[in-house]
Amino acid sequence: MTAALRDPLAILDGYHEAMLERPARLQSHVRRVESGARHLAAVHELDRDVCAAAAAGHDLFRHCTDDELLELSRRYRLAVSEEERAAPIILHGPLAAAWSRDALGVAHEEILCAIAYHTTAHPQFSEAALAVFLADKIDPHKVERDAGLRAVAAAAEHDLYAAGAMFLERRLAEQLASGQLLHPLAVASRNTFLRRRS
Ligand SMILES: [Fe+2]
Ligand SMILES: [Fe+2]
Repeated sequence: MTAALRDPLAILDGYHEAMLERPARLQSHVRRVESGARHLAAVHELDRDVCAAAAAGHDLFRHCTDDELLELSRRYRLAVSEEERAAPIILHGPLAAAWSRDALGVAHEEILCAIAYHTTAHPQFSEAALAVFLADKIDPHKVERDAGLRAVAAAAEHDLYAAGAMFLERRLAEQLASGQLLHPLAVASRNTFLRRRS
């Protein structure tokens, strides 16, 4: 049995090692997210090691196909909702958290929550988890491709909740416009972040 891993720096090391086996493009994205998460942690006076560790582990299963994600979810006995069956990519966060507990023994709930819900967000996100969520969404390469994200990146410097609500409103509006299912956690997170913005 794996010993419980609670130290964010030890968790960070474990994720760095695991990421070495992932595709190079994904490794580059994750490095940018880690650097963005460290930046937001510094600006908002959050725990940098917690932010860095969650960022380093957030996309461990991002390279998997839909079929692989559904198969791994069965193996880890994850509950798969109707929204997730329609868009299995959402499962790569919950899977990374399940794998972290199982393979690395990660027992740091804040880091696990940030990783599990980095696609939809979660109304119970800590500020550190929200910083990691935003660092992923405003990866400079994504902002280059989508100028609409610049306002989210600018807001993240001042108010994480305002930036979180802004990002989710854009995403939910796109999903509504294209007839996709809305994930209940994304809707609940948007409402919570909207109430908490300053
Ligand atoms: Fe992701
Ligand atoms: Fe990502």
